[in-house]
Amino acid sequence: MKAIRFLLPVIGLCLAVSPDSTLLSMQKNEPAIAVIPKPLSMKKESGTFNVSRTTVVAVDEGVPELRRLADDLSLRLRTATGFPVPVVSKSGSNAIRLAIVSDSELGDEGYRLSVSKKAVVIEAGKPAGVFYGVQTLLQLLPPDVEKSAVTAGPTWSIPCVRIEDKPRFPWRGMHLDVGRHFFSKDSVKRYIDMMASYKMNTFHWHLTEDQGWRIEIKKYPRLTSVSAWRRESNGDGIPHGGFYSRDEVREVVQYAKDRFITVVPEIEMPGHSQAALAGYPELSCSGGPFKVGTDWGVINDVFCAGNEKTFKFLEDVIDEVTGLFPGAFLHIGGDECPKLRWSNCKRCQDRIAGLGLKNEDELQSYFIKRIEGMLNARGKRLVGWDEILEGGLAPNATVMSWRGIKGGIEAAKSGHDVVMTPTSYCYFDYYQGAVGEPAAMGGFLPIDSVYAYEPVPDVLTAEEAHHILGAQGNVWTEWIPDYRHAEYMATTRMMALSEVVWSAKSRRNFEDFLRRIIPHYQRLSNRDINYRVPTPLGVGGRKIILRDTVAAITSPVPGATIYYTLDGSDPTPGSAIYSSPIAINGDRVLKASLQFPGSRMSNPITTAFLTVDPALNGLRFEYFEGGWDFLPDLRIITPVKTGVTYDIGLGGVPTRGRNYGLVFKGTMTLPADGEYTFFLLSDDGSKLFIDGKEFINNDGLHGSVEVSSKASFARGMHSIEVRYFQRGGGQDLGISIEGPGFAKQLLPPRLLSLQ
Ligand code: ACM
Ligand code: ZN
Repeated sequence: MKAIRFLLPVIGLCLAVSPDSTLLSMQKNEPAIAVIPKPLSMKKESGTFNVSRTTVVAVDEGVPELRRLADDLSLRLRTATGFPVPVVSKSGSNAIRLAIVSDSELGDEGYRLSVSKKAVVIEAGKPAGVFYGVQTLLQLLPPDVEKSAVTAGPTWSIPCVRIEDKPRFPWRGMHLDVGRHFFSKDSVKRYIDMMASYKMNTFHWHLTEDQGWRIEIKKYPRLTSVSAWRRESNGDGIPHGGFYSRDEVREVVQYAKDRFITVVPEIEMPGHSQAALAGYPELSCSGGPFKVGTDWGVINDVFCAGNEKTFKFLEDVIDEVTGLFPGAFLHIGGDECPKLRWSNCKRCQDRIAGLGLKNEDELQSYFIKRIEGMLNARGKRLVGWDEILEGGLAPNATVMSWRGIKGGIEAAKSGHDVVMTPTSYCYFDYYQGAVGEPAAMGGFLPIDSVYAYEPVPDVLTAEEAHHILGAQGNVWTEWIPDYRHAEYMATTRMMALSEVVWSAKSRRNFEDFLRRIIPHYQRLSNRDINYRVPTPLGVGGRKIILRDTVAAITSPVPGATIYYTLDGSDPTPGSAIYSSPIAINGDRVLKASLQFPGSRMSNPITTAFLTVDPALNGLRFEYFEGGWDFLPDLRIITPVKTGVTYDIGLGGVPTRGRNYGLVFKGTMTLPADGEYTFFLLSDDGSKLFIDGKEFINNDGLHGSVEVSSKASFARGMHSIEVRYFQRGGGQDLGISIEGPGFAKQLLPPRLLSLQ
């Protein structure tokens, strides 16, 4: 099934990268050029411009916005170098000049940057272009330019270069869900800073959810006194909540505007509205009462579409929200709205009958069209998730295609604008590594998949393709409890996406990107931004050995130092440095991390080496081939292969990867009387039998799902049998135990025998 979590290798990170101009220039002690996103054209020339005590920032006084950009650049350079770097209005030598020029080629966001030994010139048609030119310039300076204190010593050199650059798409988006977990105004500003450095220009602020309403609305005070707070999260017993005052919203919007980022607020309707209903239950079909959501998922209680009060409320909210956000778009959600309450609501059914609608889908369409009317009347455009196509799209709506790209294609073909954000390329709440990652939403989205995304579906004509405004990374926060973690999930995948939406398609190359991202790690660390460093290869999981073996570890990209431990502790820069395969004798826990120059350490990857005795341990396995939706009676099917293995899992048996079944049979020796819980994880279906009786049923076609069961067992031997089948897509099988003497762990192979 689809939710592939643990088994896929991190394909793109295994590429061997050959030496190239950056590495060579690093060797020659010249500054490396590693600009992200990759500019449209770049011509390297010999020599450097050195920022010194006499360098000035020169700017035409006529454009106030340019003066602000000059002041900001001056402050950054002054902070890091300790040189005065004043802003002056006359250009001369040793100047960094910012200028607006008339050049239609550059468009609204393009710029030209030329660095010679004597001067730096950034020219653009609009201030946004100058701002992007400055971002590129900062990336050409040594990473210490990002520090918040003076660094003495480095030569503040900028390689001589000529760059011409402009973006491919006008919507270069990042989304942040502050509903599931609230992040402070200052955290949101950090997010905006990170976006701006990589030339992203649209911040989609997901402000309302079942689990929290986050924006102050003057007319409806219970939205912030009630709807912004929940009793707990997923049973943690800890209250969560928060909201942004109107002044805070204004501050964030201005902060974003100063960085040429438009904020698109999202007010969810008709679904994902339980928090609002907790404050105003009269807007629901049933009348409530409701509490602000404390668990994740799709919730049945939604705004009543038959009640005029709902539309009055939403119009009032829209009035206030449009007053706070000057951008063209307001996102109205529209996703995942169950129709159960509408089906059973007299008012909703009367509305369907009164308007001659066919069904609840058409009622949702009526709802969204009515909201679009309110927005258009206020000069705003409606954008919504692709469910707004169901029952008929509102006339001027823009569609955000998230459930794959089908909705985006349909919308573009019917002349609507589209933002692409399909889960399989753009959901940054998914796992970014196969092992060693903090708990995430499920799904698997490594950086190479993000990088490989092409936002324009090839079925579109050139005319239709114009409707693809761009793409966006989404950061849903069910599993992201704090802002540092949000940064960890977002930063490097956003950098990959920045190249998807900014750089020319022909300029994109993943190996080259991997090489360019390395010096950025140090920049991010200097800014105290959290991010993921690729993890070592060749390690992870459980390895069953007879007595000894060697462990070979590699870095996915050259240039890293690998650190390891054998005592169970997490590696640090003081740990042993890996240089050649490590001898492993007996049961051992190997932990490995890697670090690039100036980067943080990667997450540690743990490998448990477990010894077994072939005279005592083992299990019989039977391997079958066939395609099933549920476990067949494997006892009456002839296996294709049988043999002995040491573990219940997919590591030790050869399979064809899809359309197969497995049976593992043997004896399990429990060390003590007591209550034991067994956990059976599989993708697709499986069953566990103990002492001949079915103990866990985890059957059917599904992603990685774990089912547990608990019972008392006597110490000693018990027969054990696991049956499993795999249809297609992700595959997974594992059995864990918890009981006397065992914290929850994978079933130790030394408990298993053939008898
Ligand atoms: C979504 O992920 N529900 C838009
Ligand atoms: Zn209703």
